[in-house]
Amino acid sequence: MKLKALVTLLSDGKVHSGESLARQLGVSRTAIWKQVRRIMDEGFEVATIRGRGYQLTSRVDFLDPVLITNQLKDDLLAQVDLRVLEEVDSTNAEVFRQIAEGCDKKIPITIADSQTAGRGRRGRIWRSPRGENLYLSMGLIFHGGFSVLDGLSLVLGVAVAEALEALGAPDVGLKWPNDIFLPSGKLGGILVELQGELQEGVVQVIAGIGINVHMSKADDVDQPWSSLAGACPDIEWSRNQIAAAIIGAVSGAAELFSREGFSGFRDSWQKRDIHHNCLVQARGGEIKGVGCGIDGNGNYLLRTPEGDVVPIRAGEISLRVAS
Ligand code: BTN
Repeated sequence: MKLKALVTLLSDGKVHSGESLARQLGVSRTAIWKQVRRIMDEGFEVATIRGRGYQLTSRVDFLDPVLITNQLKDDLLAQVDLRVLEEVDSTNAEVFRQIAEGCDKKIPITIADSQTAGRGRRGRIWRSPRGENLYLSMGLIFHGGFSVLDGLSLVLGVAVAEALEALGAPDVGLKWPNDIFLPSGKLGGILVELQGELQEGVVQVIAGIGINVHMSKADDVDQPWSSLAGACPDIEWSRNQIAAAIIGAVSGAAELFSREGFSGFRDSWQKRDIHHNCLVQARGGEIKGVGCGIDGNGNYLLRTPEGDVVPIRAGEISLRVAS
């Protein structure tokens, strides 16, 4: 019996007798009892109510490709090649495979319930527990060679922030170049990987987006972090809805960026800059200065104590609050 089928039956939050569950799933009551133990081992909370049955008391937020595609606009829906997987090494790696297998000129997108080798920026591991968060990657094509990609990373951050705000997340901030923040800590990140020029001037980009949705503990994360459910508990966060909103926002932003470049996104990025007017350091402390936004190419600008404005190149280093 699939555990998912049992969780789905219990997901209405009502009390279900072992007998009725056994009948609906075509197994014995003992099998149901064992499966209830297993779903509890997977982290679901199930109350056993003496003489009445079982009641699921924790939330259920399964990924469902139909619920995701139902929320996409028709013209976008016709363009996407969506894979929703229970487990994968990395959704970015899967999109590379999707492209290699040929995705019929569609936008390859992979979403997974968990990643066994989730990748973060600068070679870090991206913690990817099952069922908790959103792990989504999209393949995007740009024309004009690598030089047209200046600022793309920031554009993706703006798109994700706007998508989350449209769903009700307040005060979404951006940390240069594209970390997604809430006031209580890092909410998500974006990993941009390039596949090289497919043909003269045609560049394949894989944009991998990780957003903490329900995660409530992460002992091994070495910086303050947040989750949508933790920060906004009154909203019923659905990973399907967040995925659809991000797919829509990222594909729209990529199209606008292809047509008009970065300039139209600059203000949207700057108003969310979490380091604006803060003393920060770059290049491992070599440069300290007050954050004063980005230039037209997406470089971060620091005003040093001497009054110089120093541009920090995208991808070069990370910014930290100076001590
Ligand atoms: C960061 O370090 O801030 C970027 C994290 C990016 C994580 C996402 S999760 C989906 C996609 N697949 C990966 O392996 N990484 C990205």
